[in-house]
Amino acid sequence: MSILSWDEFEDDSQKPAAPQQQPKTVETQETPNTQAVSDAKSPSPSVAAAQPTPAATSSGTANSTDTLARASAALEKMDVAPGLEELEMGAGRVQVDDKRMINCRADLNQLVPFKYEWAWQKYLDGCANHWMPQEVNMTHDIALWKSEDGLTDDERVIIKRSLGFFSTADSLVANNLVLAIYRLITNPECRQYILRQAFEEAIHTHAYQYCIESLGMDEGEIFNMYREIPSVARKAAWGLKYTQSLGDPNFRTGTPEQDQELLRNMIAFYCVLEGIFFYCGFSQILSMGRRNKMTGVAEQFQYILRDESMHVNFGIDMINQIKIENPHLWSEAFQEEVTQMILEGTILEIEYARDTMPRGVLGMNAAMMEEYLKFICNRRLNQLGLPEQYKGVNNPFQWMSEMMDLRKEKNFFETRVTDYQTGGALSW
Ligand SMILES: [Fe+2]
Ligand SMILES: [Fe+2]
Repeated sequence: MSILSWDEFEDDSQKPAAPQQQPKTVETQETPNTQAVSDAKSPSPSVAAAQPTPAATSSGTANSTDTLARASAALEKMDVAPGLEELEMGAGRVQVDDKRMINCRADLNQLVPFKYEWAWQKYLDGCANHWMPQEVNMTHDIALWKSEDGLTDDERVIIKRSLGFFSTADSLVANNLVLAIYRLITNPECRQYILRQAFEEAIHTHAYQYCIESLGMDEGEIFNMYREIPSVARKAAWGLKYTQSLGDPNFRTGTPEQDQELLRNMIAFYCVLEGIFFYCGFSQILSMGRRNKMTGVAEQFQYILRDESMHVNFGIDMINQIKIENPHLWSEAFQEEVTQMILEGTILEIEYARDTMPRGVLGMNAAMMEEYLKFICNRRLNQLGLPEQYKGVNNPFQWMSEMMDLRKEKNFFETRVTDYQTGGALSW
């Protein structure tokens, strides 16, 4: 489908009215016929709305003149205050010190001056890492998936479970971002990154859909796993309850209880969903790629992991900044509650590891994954300034750090950015 140009727009308005091809349902709707006609022939609703419909034009110029007069009159009567109700007209310009992560009353439409440089930097880094799923070659994966003996049954289970969990998990994350978190974070540079993150989540869901379609999988089976397979469903349900508590459009922050409710949601999504629930599936698929199996799927996952590690770090930066600005929220009782949430997430991910790896596979097994997840759990607690809960655990998958080094993240990003910008494939 081509992009509509202004010339086409002009030409289109000259054409005679299209024959009345109305969808059957139109009779039961209140939509006027003219709208149905314009929808049927217009590429986008916004163009349809902006363009005089053929029916309106053919009925004479009187209507257009009346509409124009009404439009001019409405603008003359417009009071700017209601549209800018959050602003004090004539108030001083935004100063850096006015800016706050939550409950800020400074104008949120002004991006600068920056207060949180880290947020703006992550936005720039995210844009520099841009990628699209169709750029990854899936040919070898399709051949391997369709071959009789290229993959073991255990490897097939891992691929299906991973695509099953992630294909819906990224939608849960995206919905939570735009429906719960975005409006409650009152800082424009953080919102700028959140918008970037939301688009990246859309790309991730696209990537999973692209893998599922390329491999010719049963879409119904894969997309319903988060409701049908217990080890997947329990993780999804655990996250969803935190979206629900903030999903009420009337929810506001401002009291300590409400502010803690927002923090709970951010910890559930950034630290547990993106920070723990993704790690078993990611390491399984990346291990497969290292063994030269399903390298296209693995390459998609590696790009996603690069994005996700930035999402987690951004979320933790936001949470820690909220703590600095609102120390009363980080009470001892709340710290205990947060520690419990991180442990609940770790236990659910260990259950998932056992379910997807009943035997050793791909040079790993459930016990090694359990150690790895405890290592990740300690890392998340550390990042939040909380004490580690699993003493003496080590990282059994050092190679994961090479792919997404938790400590040398900058180097990792620099390498991958170059790879993407030169169009080079990831090598295993
Ligand atoms: Fe994602
Ligand atoms: Fe994410």
